[in-house]
Amino acid sequence: MTETFETLLLTRNGPVTTVAFNRPEKRNAMSPQLHREMFQVLTELRYDKQTKVVILTGAGDNFCAGQDLKQYGLEMESQPEWVKDEIRDKVRRWRTELLRSLPQPIIARIMGWCLGGALTVTVGCDVAIAADDAKFGLPEVNFGHFPAGETTPILANYLQSKHGLYYALSGKMMPAAEAARIGLISRVVPRAELDQEVNEFAQCLAEKSARALRAVKETWYSSMKASPDVGFMISNFVSDRIIREQGGRPGLEQFVEKKLRPMSGTMKLEKE
Ligand code: COA
Repeated sequence: MTETFETLLLTRNGPVTTVAFNRPEKRNAMSPQLHREMFQVLTELRYDKQTKVVILTGAGDNFCAGQDLKQYGLEMESQPEWVKDEIRDKVRRWRTELLRSLPQPIIARIMGWCLGGALTVTVGCDVAIAADDAKFGLPEVNFGHFPAGETTPILANYLQSKHGLYYALSGKMMPAAEAARIGLISRVVPRAELDQEVNEFAQCLAEKSARALRAVKETWYSSMKASPDVGFMISNFVSDRIIREQGGRPGLEQFVEKKLRPMSGTMKLEKE
């Protein structure tokens, strides 16, 4: 697994791996190199046996100021068509399918600015926890443009139109409490409590069975796209697989033997 990147910072704390956008002097704006490296790290992390939970954040005081307007927006124009296609493909895929198909849960830890394409990253992560100083927004209209690429398609699918269009049309900034109210993020906490909240949540997930976490994600995201009948079928396939891989239902056995109270504790893990 590659541990060192030019635009990302990878840190490990036991089973929890944190990936930070590491361009604080540019407010962590996403350059073509950052997209290439995010694509690479997400491709590699899925095979990393040490990582049970991933935190995605920004170095310094901000999550991410969106696409790098200079390097991505202007300099990309001078690139040959195949380079533009390669980057566009990586941008779209890491922020959608790679985040969602990552077997490990991924938590967005957000503070400061979270703008433009960074909103698609927020949507792509499984859970998003923000500090009360975080500010979300789609300022593109103020450049005489619009949230281009996959930003509008993702947000139009994810947010109710009356919420999303209010911000896409006006370019107004959205406080963290409002982002929580409209379902863009999972919860908002005081800035001083952000690390504790995110770390406790990551630890809570790290104690679960990795197979169960993967199954939750797979059935959740495939059900979003499927009819209830197809979703039910996928659910049964995943259920058969997890029982087969575990050689039965160890958690249920622990419950029957009165060794487990699932509302207050988690299954004792054999080696997975
Ligand atoms: N793309 C490229 N560079 C960016 C950037 C972006 N999206 N956002 C910030 N930067 C750069 C600035 O150009 C500046 O670089 P410099 O020091 O080489 O001049 C540096 O980051 C610091 O930015 P600055 O504006 O001085 O910081 P600030 O804290 O006062 O303001 C922002 C931060 C994010 C509010 C402001 O930089 C901004 O509005 N950025 C554009 C955000 C945007 O429109 N995003 C949507 C893109 S799709």
